[in-house]
Amino acid sequence: RTFKRQMMCRRDIDSLSVPFLAIYESLIPPEEEKLKQKQLLGLLEKLVSKEWPMARLYLYGSCANSFGVSKSDIDVCLAIQEVDMDKSKIIMKLADILQSDNLQNVQALTRARVPIVKLMDPVTGISCDICINNLLAVVNTKLLRDYANIDTRLRQLAFIIKHWAKSRGVNETYHGTLSSYAYVLMCIHFLQQRRPAILPCLQGMDATYSVTVDNVDCAFFDKVEKLGHFGRHNKESIAHLVWGFFFYWAYCHDYANSVISVRTGSTISKRDKDWTRRVGNDRHLICIEDPFEISHDLGRVVDKRSIKVLREEFERAADIMQYDPNPCVKLFEPY
Ligand code: CTP
Ligand code: MG
Repeated sequence: RTFKRQMMCRRDIDSLSVPFLAIYESLIPPEEEKLKQKQLLGLLEKLVSKEWPMARLYLYGSCANSFGVSKSDIDVCLAIQEVDMDKSKIIMKLADILQSDNLQNVQALTRARVPIVKLMDPVTGISCDICINNLLAVVNTKLLRDYANIDTRLRQLAFIIKHWAKSRGVNETYHGTLSSYAYVLMCIHFLQQRRPAILPCLQGMDATYSVTVDNVDCAFFDKVEKLGHFGRHNKESIAHLVWGFFFYWAYCHDYANSVISVRTGSTISKRDKDWTRRVGNDRHLICIEDPFEISHDLGRVVDKRSIKVLREEFERAADIMQYDPNPCVKLFEPY
């Protein structure tokens, strides 16, 4: 593999933005879907507050970070201070409360890495996962949403990359590939790296929002409407950015030594993080630092087999973007 290979983008690249934007538009959830999500959240709030009047429900994940495509499940976090009840007890109790109403397939998954209650609402047809006190996820959801409000190209790029990852089967953490959350961070990092930059580093600016959650200080600039149009000096089209994204991950990223870090707006060295060798199941073959839980490598699920799959997929996509006469078809071909 050629590291830092130089390549000129094809000359007709910008004309490919039309079909890419059409794909993006087709994935945007319609307004009525958002209303149904709110309706379901309202029902859940009503049921939960009967048992726990002080508890709060928060939406997080793709339904709240603006990277959710049409027909996604919703992720809900129950914030509750039950000092003498452990998480799996709360999960069982919550499942009980919800079971008794008209919700379907209520399941308590107490043994999962993140214990959740799963359910389906037959009225809206929406499925939902509820976790307990995962407030860092609520805060990283806000960070992602704030980034999305800076430049629409982030949302467009992330939709296209998530759609590609799902089509190609590389969005499955239980098979050693990456979560949607990881892909969105990769998109943010990529847009922070463009010159001129398309996104700033919100955690590197004076904080206008600051909370401490699970002993982690989460602080960043969140008055993004004050940034004007930050990325205006960069005129790259969405097709150019899709090409650039795949080219970056295929040929430019230094997998052996670098960690991508949205927190610093840059890359940092694996050595500085002590992510150079395998510890337990964490292999650090592709390193993506969580913006708040900075000891978390979102690439930790990737193993020797799946890193090969991932890198081959990035190369395949980069080559399609460079040479294929009709990349929008080939790129999303089911694997
Ligand atoms: N999350 C996290 N740490 C991870 C994975 C996920 O904090 N290692 C949180 C993030 O807040 C993320 C949410 O869980 O937004 C949901 O994760 P995921 O399902 O990967 O992303 P979604 O945006 O919900 O994507 P999808 O549309 O594929 O459901
Ligand atoms: Mg989700």
